[in-house]
Amino acid sequence: MTGETQHALRGDYSRMRPDYTVDQEWPAYTAEEHALWRRLYQRQVGLVERYACEEYVRSMHALDFSQAIPRFDLVNPKLKAATNWQLVAVPGLLPDLTFFDHLAHRRFPVTVWLRKPEEFDYIVEPDIFHDFFGHVPMLFDPVFADYIQAYGQGGIKAHAQGAIEMLARLYWYTVEFGLIDTPRGLRTYGAGILSSGGELPYCIDSPDPNRIGFDLLRIMQTRYKIDTFQETYFVIRDFEQLFDATAPDFTPYYAMLKGREPHAPSAVLATDRVYHRGESPVRAA
Ligand code: PHE
Ligand code: CO
Repeated sequence: MTGETQHALRGDYSRMRPDYTVDQEWPAYTAEEHALWRRLYQRQVGLVERYACEEYVRSMHALDFSQAIPRFDLVNPKLKAATNWQLVAVPGLLPDLTFFDHLAHRRFPVTVWLRKPEEFDYIVEPDIFHDFFGHVPMLFDPVFADYIQAYGQGGIKAHAQGAIEMLARLYWYTVEFGLIDTPRGLRTYGAGILSSGGELPYCIDSPDPNRIGFDLLRIMQTRYKIDTFQETYFVIRDFEQLFDATAPDFTPYYAMLKGREPHAPSAVLATDRVYHRGESPVRAA
């Protein structure tokens, strides 16, 4: 995740390298932290079968990190073989350009610290459970892995064009909170949902949120909430759709959208393709 934060960051940024990476120092995790990881994992594992896309479920099981906080040095050879990505350990949230540069070079930053037991249900900043459980299995999918790299490259461009806010909405509504239409119904591939005990069932089963067909320009002008479940989810058909729609140069899109008032997180527009339960998307009335 990227973005400006108002509060002081929680990680230890005192011993990092210039690219913000640190050593994971796996032996320093306590028995209590491994136990908390197991509890977090156990809660999600049952939900993921019903609510996550196949690509996610398959890699999550192949990795099998049910027993302890994962060691990045043991995951990296598998990830390298699968999609040529690597995990790098970081103290927490990164400056935008540092984050984009890692992604552009197929390095995924994973926070080293784990939340406290009292944050079991909700955490403000991404921790190792969110970063690893939510994001890492999807990096084993070749098309999705290419999308994340392209996003990093696009981030460096967006930064130069003062368009980070628009691009960050795309990350939010896809990588963090995206849904996908599958033969077995709507599922999620979004890390913010996959690492959340409450939002996994909510994003699929609740009648409350809007579920709208993926639309790049629409997403780039839609604000989002960071402190509640989402009011709107965008649904892709498959990862190729996501990759292809985001392949063009965004420069003219940014120029066109700049200065427009963004849509509210809850907005439904006449041009939206709205998903209703168990049906194909239809245009909003
Ligand atoms: N094609 C985008 C650009 O030119 C880059 C991008 C790719 C952004 C994939 C997001 C996701 O800026
Ligand atoms: Co994230």
